[in-house]
Parts: sequence; C-alpha cells; structure tokens
Amino acid sequence: MGCGTGLNFALLRGRIGPAGTIIGIDRSAQMLEQARRRAARAGWKNVILIQADAVFLDPAAIRSTIQGQGGSPESDAALATYSLSLMPEWRRAWTNLKALLKAEARVAVVDMKVPEGWARLLTPLAWAACALGGADITAHPWQAVEEDCTNVLRSSARAGHLQIRAGAFHKDPS
Ligand SMILES: C[S@@+](CC[C@H](N)C(=O)[O-])C[C@H]1O[C@@H](n2cnc3c(N)ncnc32)[C@H](O)[C@@H]1O
Repeated sequence: MGCGTGLNFALLRGRIGPAGTIIGIDRSAQMLEQARRRAARAGWKNVILIQADAVFLDPAAIRSTIQGQGGSPESDAALATYSLSLMPEWRRAWTNLKALLKAEARVAVVDMKVPEGWARLLTPLAWAACALGGADITAHPWQAVEEDCTNVLRSSARAGHLQIRAGAFHKDPS
C-alpha cells in the first residue's frame, strides 16, 4: 500500500516467487509509471498496479479490479513502507487495507518516529526530513499492527527512527 516506484518489488518477488502476484496500490500516477517501468525492465509479469487513494478507495472495487487482472481478490500479505505516515487519515487506509486481506494474512508496516537516546539530538533533522516529504512523524501507524495482529515481530533501526512491525492479521468473522 503506497508502493511508490516499486522499490520493494524485487525483494517481495523473491519471497512470493514467479507464481505469486504483487499488487501495488498508490495514488500517484507518476510513481506507478516508474513501478510499471521497473516491472517491465525486469520482465515481471506478475505485478498488478492500481492507482487509488488508500484512504478513500472502495475495497470491493479494488478487489474486482484485481480479479479482472487475474489476481486473487484477497491477499495473503500486505506491506506499507513509509506510506501510512503520509496519509492524514491513515487509520481509514488501514481499514481499507484490512478489507483486501485474507484472515491470518501477514502484515508489515515500516515508518518513522523521532529518534531515541543520544540520537534525540537529531530530532530537528528528522522532523524536517519528514515535513519536507509530507510525512507526520507523530503518526506512528505501526500501532495498528500492534492492535490488530498476533505474533507481532518488532524491530527498529537508526536509533529508533525507523520502526518495523510485522504480524498475523486476525479478521473479524463478522
Ligand atoms: C515515501 S514513498 C514510499 C514508497 C514505497 N513504499 C517505498 O518504500 O519505496 C510514499 C508513497 O505513498 C504514496 N501515498 C501517499 N499518500 C497516499 C494515499 N493516500 N494513497 C495511496 N498512496 C499514497 C505516495 O504517492 C508515495 O508513492
């Protein structure tokens, strides 16, 4: 979700293999064009790119678009790296993302917060970098993984500036 230029695609493809499908959703046509070129250059046929705003998309419409392009209407896993903090209403985007997943799907979020320890000195830099890119450094969208998933793996990098969470999503049976 918020796949950008598809920087993650090569690693994802390595995990899902040629038989799996990557579905990249982004609101920016320019980003998706670069993602499309990346997939074409690499000769990947199993990439479906959809231009949509994660906050306002209609999950049913997205599922039918995916199906129309030969993909499964419910995904086994979802990844949002450095994208949710760009969305003021990221919780709506998260709800929409969940609606595209199978029960027990793997979900991972990577995003930013202010650094910890000695690196707190770099906080103004971190704020400036996030503000420049339009991200809200106080959003902490990985909280959603903590709230909605089990078996949560937690990691961080760059003195806590980068927060990584992965877990298994538990779908409400209703
Ligand atoms: C910082 S880039 C990260 C791209 C990619 N996830 C990565 O790690 O390389 C953030 C992406 O989120 C997308 N984005 C921001 N707000 C969005 C929204 N409301 N709906 C869908 N995509 C959004 C932007 O267009 C951009 O491509």
